[in-house]
Amino acid sequence: MSEVDVKPLTVTLRITMPGKRSGSTFSQLRLILCFLLYCWILAGPVCGYFLKNCPIRGNLSDNFNMKVLCYNRNLEVMPINILWKVSVLDVAMNNISKIGKFDFKGLSNLKILNMFMNQISQVDNDALAHLEALQELYLAYNRLTTLSDHLFQDLANLSLLHLDNNLITTIGSSSFQLLSSLKTVNLTKNNLHNMKEVQPIIQLPHLRELYIGSNRFTSFQSQEISNKSIGLRLLDLSRNPCITADVLPYLEVLDIAYCGQLGRMEWDVLDRSFLSNIKGLNLSGIEMSFERMAMELQTVNSSLVHLRLYDIGEERVKALTDIACHIPTLSLLRLHHNNISSLSEEFLQSCKQVTEVDLENNNIIQLSAVSFRSMEQLSTLRLGHNMLSSVPDATRNVSTLKFLDLSFNIILKLGCSDFANLTGLTQLFLFHNQISNLPGCVFKDLKELRILKLGSNKILTLNDDFMSGLYKLEYLSMSYNKLSSISKGDFKGLASLKTLLLFDNQIASLEDGAFEGLVNLAELRLQSNKITQIDIRKTVLSGLPRLRTLDISCNYITYVNDHKLNPPPFSHLTSLENLLIFSQRHKGLCHLPINFLEGLKSLLSFEAGSLNIKELHPDTFIHTPQLWFLDISKNEFTALTLKLFHPIPRLNSLYLSKARLQFLGFLIGANLSRVTFLQVRKNAITAVNETVLHSLPALTYLDMQDNAFTCGCSDAWFVNWMENDNQTQVVGAGEFTCNYPADLKDTKLLDVELQFCTVHLGLYYYISTTCLVLLTLVASFAYHFLKWQVIYGYYLILAFLYDTKQRNKLTPHGCQYDAFISYNAHDEPWVLRELEGEQGWKLCLHHRDFQPGKPIIDNIMEGIYGSRKTICVISRRYLESEWCSREIQVASFRLFDEQKDVLILVFLEEIPTHQLSPYHRMRKLVKRLTYLSWPRAGEQTGVFWQQLRLALETKDGPAEENPILSGVEAL
Ligand SMILES: *[C@@H]1O[C@H](CO)[C@@H](O)[C@H](O)[C@H]1NC(C)=O
Ligand SMILES: *[C@@H]1O[C@H](CO)[C@@H](O)[C@H](O)[C@H]1NC(C)=O
Ligand SMILES: *[C@@H]1O[C@H](CO)[C@@H](O)[C@H](O)[C@H]1NC(C)=O
Repeated sequence: MSEVDVKPLTVTLRITMPGKRSGSTFSQLRLILCFLLYCWILAGPVCGYFLKNCPIRGNLSDNFNMKVLCYNRNLEVMPINILWKVSVLDVAMNNISKIGKFDFKGLSNLKILNMFMNQISQVDNDALAHLEALQELYLAYNRLTTLSDHLFQDLANLSLLHLDNNLITTIGSSSFQLLSSLKTVNLTKNNLHNMKEVQPIIQLPHLRELYIGSNRFTSFQSQEISNKSIGLRLLDLSRNPCITADVLPYLEVLDIAYCGQLGRMEWDVLDRSFLSNIKGLNLSGIEMSFERMAMELQTVNSSLVHLRLYDIGEERVKALTDIACHIPTLSLLRLHHNNISSLSEEFLQSCKQVTEVDLENNNIIQLSAVSFRSMEQLSTLRLGHNMLSSVPDATRNVSTLKFLDLSFNIILKLGCSDFANLTGLTQLFLFHNQISNLPGCVFKDLKELRILKLGSNKILTLNDDFMSGLYKLEYLSMSYNKLSSISKGDFKGLASLKTLLLFDNQIASLEDGAFEGLVNLAELRLQSNKITQIDIRKTVLSGLPRLRTLDISCNYITYVNDHKLNPPPFSHLTSLENLLIFSQRHKGLCHLPINFLEGLKSLLSFEAGSLNIKELHPDTFIHTPQLWFLDISKNEFTALTLKLFHPIPRLNSLYLSKARLQFLGFLIGANLSRVTFLQVRKNAITAVNETVLHSLPALTYLDMQDNAFTCGCSDAWFVNWMENDNQTQVVGAGEFTCNYPADLKDTKLLDVELQFCTVHLGLYYYISTTCLVLLTLVASFAYHFLKWQVIYGYYLILAFLYDTKQRNKLTPHGCQYDAFISYNAHDEPWVLRELEGEQGWKLCLHHRDFQPGKPIIDNIMEGIYGSRKTICVISRRYLESEWCSREIQVASFRLFDEQKDVLILVFLEEIPTHQLSPYHRMRKLVKRLTYLSWPRAGEQTGVFWQQLRLALETKDGPAEENPILSGVEAL
C-alpha cells in the first residue's frame, strides 16, 4: 500500500479524536475503527510485481528460482518490499553503507545474498538473523572493520562466506560459533594480524577452505589449534608478512605464496607429520632461501600432487623442479612467470611421472628436441604465451600427449612433420599465432583430434586436403583469419565436425557445395565476413542436414525489394533452429523477401535486428510455425500489421526495441497468447492501454524503458496496472519518464498523480469506510445522548409501518369501542368502577380485549385504531410503565397520521412537570392537548364527567379547534 492510500484514513481517525469520552461508547468505537482499519489493509491494493528498477528473474509461482537483481543501481539503502519468496538477492556494486535490522526481515527463502562491492561498514545486530535458508553470503569489497559476536547468528545453513577486501581487524570470539555448515571462508585482504582472531573459524566442524592471504599475520603457531581443525583442507596464507608454520595435519592444500616479502620467511616445521597430507602447494614468489625451500619440498615428499612455482626466477625454478620431480606422487607442475627462455635437456629429466606441465607466460624461444623424452606420462603440455616461432621438435613423437597448447606464440609456418606421430592428441590450440599456410599434410597423423583451434592467425586459403586425417574432428575454429573464399569441398573430410567457426574473415565468395560433406555440422558461424545476398543460395547451403544454428549476421546481404526468391535460400535447412542475420553492414538488409524463411520448418529463433527494414509482409512467418524467439529490434517499422504474428502462435519472446513504434495497437488480436517476454525499449510509445495488455495474457516480463510517455489520463490505467499486477514484471518502471506535457517533462511516470483519472478502487474503500465510520459515530453519539428519543423513534417507526399496513383494515367508522383505555394495572379498579361501571361506555381494556398470542404492539394498535378515542389514565405508576408510554405514542401517532385528536388525558393525581420531562413527547402532548384531572377527594365529580363525555363525543378534528380545550387549565 502506498502512502497516498493511507492518508485519508488517518484523517478519519483524527476526526474521531475530539470525542474523547472515557465511557464504553468510545472504546467500542475504537474497536470498530480498528476493525475497519484492518479490513482496509486486507482489501487495500497489493504491491505490484515490480521492485522499483530491479529486474526479477523467475516467476512468482516458482519458489526456488526467483532472483531479484538490484546490482549496480546506485542504491544507497537496501531496497524495500522484496518479495519474501526470493531465493537470490543481488545488491552488489551499489553505495549501501549500512544493513538495517529489518532489511531482510521475512526472507525465509533466501539462499544467496550478494552485497559485494558496497560501502557497508555497519551491520545492525540481528540484521542477518533468521535467514535460515541462506547458503552463500558475499560481503567482499566493503568497509567492515569488526565482525561482532551476533553478526552471523542463526545462519545454520551458510556454507560459503566471502569477506575478502574489507578492513577487518577484529573477529568476535563467538561470531562464527553457530555457523555449523560453513565450508569456505574468504578473508583475503583484510587487516587481521593475530592468528587468534581466526581461531574460532578454524575450529568449525565442516570448514574445508580458509583464505586468509594478504593480511598482516606475522606468526602462525599451529600447535595450539591444529588438533581442533580436523576439517580444514585448504589454507591460503599467501601474502602475509611472515609465517612461522607448523601446518595442520589434515591440510591438503597450502598456499603460502608471496609470504615473507616484508620480512624473512621462516618455516619451522617441527613435526613432519603435519604436512603428510599436502597435495597442493603454492610456493610462488616466496621469500625463502633455496636451501629451505628444498627442505620444505622434502617434507611433503609422500603426498604432493600439484606444485605451483610462479615468480621465483629461472635458476631457482630449475633447481626446485628437479627436487620436486623426485617426489613420486607429483603429477602437475605449473611454472608461470619465471622468465624461462630455453628448456634444456635436463630441466624436466627427472619428471618421469608428471602428467601435466604448464610453462605458460615465460619467454621460451627454444626447447631441446628431447625436453620431454623422459616424461613417460606427459599428456598435457601448455606452452602458450611464449616466444616460439615454430612448433618445437620436442613435441613430436610424444605419443602420450593428449592436449597441446601453443597459443599466443609467434609461430609463422606449419610444417608437415610438426605434429608427426601425435596419434593420441585430442586437443590442439594454435590460436593467436602468425600462421599463414596450412599444408595438406600437416594434421595427417592426428587421427584422434577432436578440437582444433586455429583462430587469430593469418591463414589466407584452405588447402584442399589439409583436413584429410581429421576424421574425428568435432570443433574447428578458424575465426579471425584472412580467408577470402570457401571452395567446393574445402571441408569434405570432416564428417564428424559439429561446430565450424569462420567468423571475422574476409570471405566474399562461397562456391556451390562449399560445406559439402559436413553431414554432422550443427553450428556454422559466418558472421562478420563479406558475404552478399548472392552467396546466400540454396546450392551453397546444401549438404547440411543437421545444421541447427546459422549465423550470417554482420555481412553485406541486401535485397532491393521483398519479392519472392527463387529458389528460397534455406529450403534445405530443415533442422535449422537458430538463424541470425542481424546487422548487415553498409545499408542493412532493407527488405526481407516474402519467402526468405521458406523451408525452415524447425526454426525456433530468428534474430533480425538492425536491418533497416521498413515493412514486413504479413506472410513473412508462414513457413516457421515453431518460431519461439523473435528479435526484430532496431528497424524502421513505425507500425506492424497484426497478421504478421498470426502464423506463429508459439511465440514466446518478442524484441521490438528501437523500431520507431508509436503504438502497440498492432498487438491487439495478434495471437500472442504465449508471449511471456516483450521488449519495446527506445520507441516513441506514449501510452499503453488495457486492450493491448489483455492481448498478452501470458506476459511476465515487460521492458518499456525509454519511451515517450504522455503523463495524462491515457496512462492512468497502465500505471495502476503496473502497481498492482502480480504476474508481469515491468522492468525499470520506476525510471519511466514523461515526455509530455511540458511541465511534467522528465518527471517519473510513477510520481505523477493520476488518481483523479480513474475512480480508484481505493477511493471506493475510502468513501465507504468514511461513511461507515461516520454512521457508527453518529449512532453511538445518538445512543449515548438521545437514548429515549431513539427508542421512541423506533416505536414510532414501528407504529408507522403497522399503520400503513392496517390502514385499510381498520377504519374509524367501524369502531368497536367508544374508547381505548391506556392505564396501569394498579389503576384498574378505578377504571372498572368509574369509567365502565358508572358511565356505561363501551371500553377496550387490555386485560380483557387483547387477543392472546398476538404481539402486544399489534394489540395496542388494533385497540387504538378500533376505538374512537384513547383515554390515558395517568398516574405516577402509569408513567413508570413502559407499555403505557408506548400506548401514548401510538395514539399520538394517530393524531399526526389521521389528523384526528383521539387522545384524552385523565390525570388521577397531580404530577409536576419535571417528572414528565424524560417523556419528552408526552410533555409536549400535555401542553397542547386535552387533559382532565380527576377531582381530589371530596370535590364534585359532575364537572369531570360532563367534560369527559363531551370529549368523547366531539367530532374528530385537529386538537386546536376543539372547543372543550379552551376552558381547560394547563399543567
Ligand atoms: C578470495 O578473495 C580473493 C580476493 O578478493 C580472490 O582473489 C579469491 O579469488 C577469493 N577466493 C575464493 C576461493 O573465492
Ligand atoms: C613416427 O614414428 C615412427 C615409428 O615410431 C618413426 O619411424 C617415424 O620416424 C616417426 N615420424 C617422425 C616424423 O618423427
Ligand atoms: C486501445 O488502443 C487501441 C488502438 O491503439 C484502440 O483500438 C482500443 O479501443 C483502445 N482500448 C481502450 C480500452 O481504450
